[in-house]
Amino acid sequence: MTDAPATQRTLVLVKPDGVRRGLVGEVLRRIEAKGYALVALDLRTADEALLAEHYAEHAGKPFVRPLIDFMRSGPVVAAVIEGHRVIEGWRSLAGATDPTSAAPGTIRGDLARDWGQKVIENIVHGSDGEDAAAREIALWFPGL
Ligand code: TYD
Ligand code: MG
Repeated sequence: MTDAPATQRTLVLVKPDGVRRGLVGEVLRRIEAKGYALVALDLRTADEALLAEHYAEHAGKPFVRPLIDFMRSGPVVAAVIEGHRVIEGWRSLAGATDPTSAAPGTIRGDLARDWGQKVIENIVHGSDGEDAAAREIALWFPGL
């Protein structure tokens, strides 16, 4: 716990695997049950330019090309959620990146697995800090 933290916002994505598997409602249910507020919500198919910018921190890593191709493979649900310490809280709800080791009780731990693909398909995205959250929200929801 920290003292009187300011309200935060973070970017949520339900990735194409989550949309294909019909898990949008389940993800939103967990966010709402936790008590975070939805402030923006949109279904869209992301293009190359948006995804290259979104994953700029990973530019040059071997998984970026398959990751962007996967993220373009179908619609995603993008959302902005709000609450005290929501950046950390949403990543905690999502669970560890690798669904095989993600804790049961988390979205990735309960609902995702390794399918032997080149890219980790783990249902959701969450910004990993205040700078990333501000950058990603401006990218996906300009003017919000
Ligand atoms: P990363 O930002 O490290 O994970 P997180 O989504 O938990 O913040 O990586 C972005 C996505 O890239 C991750 O969700 C799945 C994919 N990825 C791979 O496919 N292989 C990898 O080795 C890593 C680290 C990530
Ligand atoms: Mg990340």
